[in-house]
Amino acid sequence: MSNRPLNVGLVGGGKGAFIVHPHQRAIHFDGTRRVVAGALFPDPKIALAEAAAWPYPIKGYGSYDDMIAANKTLPEDQKLDYILIVTPNFVHFDPAMKAMKAGIAVFCEKPLCLNLKEANTLVKTARQLKVPFGVAHTYLGHWTSRFARYIVSSGLLGDVRWVDSYYMQGWLATKLEATGQQQATWRVDPKRAGGSGCGGDIGTHALMQLRYVTGLNVTEVSAQMETFVEGRQLDDHFTVYCKLSNGGKALVRASQICIGSKNDLGIMVAGTKGSLHWRQEEPESLTICLPNQPDRVYWRGAVTGGDGFLPKELPADLMAEPTVPAGHPEAFHDAFARLHRCFEADVRKWKAGQDFACDGSKYANIEDGWTGIAFIETAVKSAASNAKWTKLPKL
Ligand SMILES: NC(=O)c1ccc[n+]([C@@H]2O[C@H](COP(=O)([O-])OP(=O)(O)OC[C@H]3O[C@@H](n4cnc5c(N)ncnc54)[C@H](O)[C@@H]3O)[C@@H](O)[C@H]2O)c1
Repeated sequence: MSNRPLNVGLVGGGKGAFIVHPHQRAIHFDGTRRVVAGALFPDPKIALAEAAAWPYPIKGYGSYDDMIAANKTLPEDQKLDYILIVTPNFVHFDPAMKAMKAGIAVFCEKPLCLNLKEANTLVKTARQLKVPFGVAHTYLGHWTSRFARYIVSSGLLGDVRWVDSYYMQGWLATKLEATGQQQATWRVDPKRAGGSGCGGDIGTHALMQLRYVTGLNVTEVSAQMETFVEGRQLDDHFTVYCKLSNGGKALVRASQICIGSKNDLGIMVAGTKGSLHWRQEEPESLTICLPNQPDRVYWRGAVTGGDGFLPKELPADLMAEPTVPAGHPEAFHDAFARLHRCFEADVRKWKAGQDFACDGSKYANIEDGWTGIAFIETAVKSAASNAKWTKLPKL
């Protein structure tokens, strides 16, 4: 294909929607991708009105079925290269399946879908059709997450013994859903959110951060799922003790009732030689602690090898990823942009008939999405049987 910008279609995003906005800014970040179309709302009339009121011109559709069907007849340079699914969890599976079958790549919000049955079908289809499929685990897009992964996978911390991966929030500490708040109402409804509220919504991010940074898998869980706010059907507090594939242990924990906690996602990895500490609310640096030495704080854009901890040569692709010099902060939007940039590279290769990676090293892939759902379903089972150790299924 030519070097025209990739065409992206939105599924969801109208009327007070949240996560579509960081995504659409990130899509436009490099000038090499653009939003051209959208099915923004379940009601067709509102969907069209919302598209007409979009801050820049896009083609509105009454439904994602219409958007995907219309794509067939468009000239090649106007066809959608990928769709972005930013609907509540119960509207992930159907548009993803339909897009893949229509030959459109998919970038889907997390959690991948509602349950393992849907996740199995999505994986099977993506593999059969060989369509690029990304899952929007935002925090992998921070340069410091890439750096943390490099440090742990290079063995610089020794063997991983213990990981504490967490995502703490406080916004659901009261019964916000009773006020009709849009983002709260569907998140507490099992039909629209899935089998876990807090675990599905943000525990999956903590799990993904653990898996990405350490390269390890969770093999068995002992879970407690609590609901502190009266009358809520799903958990608002999620604590999972985990066995890791290397024999280490971990805690994956998430909460929505910790007043004062905003988007406090973080990870601590304790290895036999040292430990690593990182928090997304301060994403420009990470800290390494080694025995009997002052702590080392590494800042994005100001890392050099051969400092007594890092090897002299650092991977060229890692060092090329920062977008601005150290001290000009990158943050949430840059993380999203890095995910879309890496997904774009795979979509362009796919369109050109070349092999593409989609291997989870630059953004979460369909298998990562599947693992998040498997983790949640296993945690639900374990919590229902008094935190009994329960094995995760294998893909
Ligand atoms: N990656 C992250 O950091 C992150 C952050 C927030 C939300 N999310 C995920 O993003 C998704 C959306 O969350 P949100 O907070 O933006 O929700 P939201 O309620 O703010 O927005 C959802 C949008 O989907 C639309 N929609 C619903 N059904 C539709 C349909 N059939 N056709 C077209 N549009 C439809 C709604 O009208 C709304 O515009 C969820 O899966 C959530 O878990 C991810």
